[in-house]
Amino acid sequence: MALVVRPARAEDLPRAQQLVTRSINDLTVRHGFGPIATPRPADFQAFCLRDDPRGLWLADDAGDVAGFAMSWVCDRLWFPAELFVAPGRQGQGIGDQLLRRTLAQASQAGASEKCLITFAFNLVSQGLYVRHGLLPRVPIHLCRVERESLALQTRGAAFRATPIEQTGADLDALRKLDAAALGIAREKHHRYLLGDASIKGVFLNDGGGRVGYAYIAATGHIGPMAVMHGDAMPGAFRTALDIAAAGQGKQVSVFVPGTSAALAVAVELGMRFALPMVLMSAGEHGDWTRYLPRNPGFM
Ligand SMILES: CC(C)(COP(=O)(O)OP(=O)(O)OC[C@H]1O[C@@H](n2cnc3c(N)ncnc32)[C@H](O)[C@@H]1OP(=O)(O)O)[C@@H](O)C(=O)NCCC(=O)NCCS
Repeated sequence: MALVVRPARAEDLPRAQQLVTRSINDLTVRHGFGPIATPRPADFQAFCLRDDPRGLWLADDAGDVAGFAMSWVCDRLWFPAELFVAPGRQGQGIGDQLLRRTLAQASQAGASEKCLITFAFNLVSQGLYVRHGLLPRVPIHLCRVERESLALQTRGAAFRATPIEQTGADLDALRKLDAAALGIAREKHHRYLLGDASIKGVFLNDGGGRVGYAYIAATGHIGPMAVMHGDAMPGAFRTALDIAAAGQGKQVSVFVPGTSAALAVAVELGMRFALPMVLMSAGEHGDWTRYLPRNPGFM
């Protein structure tokens, strides 16, 4: 039977995530970064499938997963979270077919903005996205440090952190912060994060009120984080680092755009660049001085 590209089903997701892990590690080993991915539960993928199945596609070769793609739409933004083809099957047009299927979700959902994050060293993915009108715009570094060495460096939070609750008032405050930083609302994604007991969500308050929000995972990973004004980024970032440094994770990690004042703070505090990524978009999208993405899939 020939390869078919078909809508992904819930039962496909664990096998699709195995393929994603294999494809990432094949790529990063080839580029000298070593294997960086380990299989994870397909929780966010299952959430996206329930939310809008038009974004999830599988390249199925007689029961073998040859490729997988997933995109989500939030407000007017379309975002391809995963596009992976099996090593050995790449360069045969499968990625292009999968990408076209997810792009149909953007037009069906009326999403006018398109944006994604890919590996800065992957010429193939960048070339493919450029062919579909998404251009490389902002470098993003995954920054990492041992938590214990960071804990020695942070000197008290700049801002006061208060927990985010799933109340109308708090979701409204998040909506305003996202509107300032990204120009879109992401309520369903906040609800997803706030429903995860292993992630702490906080508002960051200066004397005058809420200037931002940050999520800090028990693993020590920070993001997403947003601030109302670019000036608040260094203080907000130091506060999020302080919370992560007081946690139990072995390391503290965060994706930082090259346009963000947080990058200098990260280096000053001894964080190392671990993986170069790049933000690509179909037009100007978001203010990347005010936002730190959670990861290239959730954004
Ligand atoms: C990126 C990936 C999904 C693409 O899928 P694929 O099936 O290999 O790609 P396709 O064969 O459909 O398309 C390849 C296209 O990339 C582009 N391309 C490849 N090399 C290129 C280069 N050096 N410069 C510019 N464009 C290039 C071309 O448009 C090419 O199409 P063409 O051969 O018809 O000209 C796949 O290679 C992959 O899984 N890579 C590893 C994981 C990864 O980086 N995923 C992206 C995460 S966002």
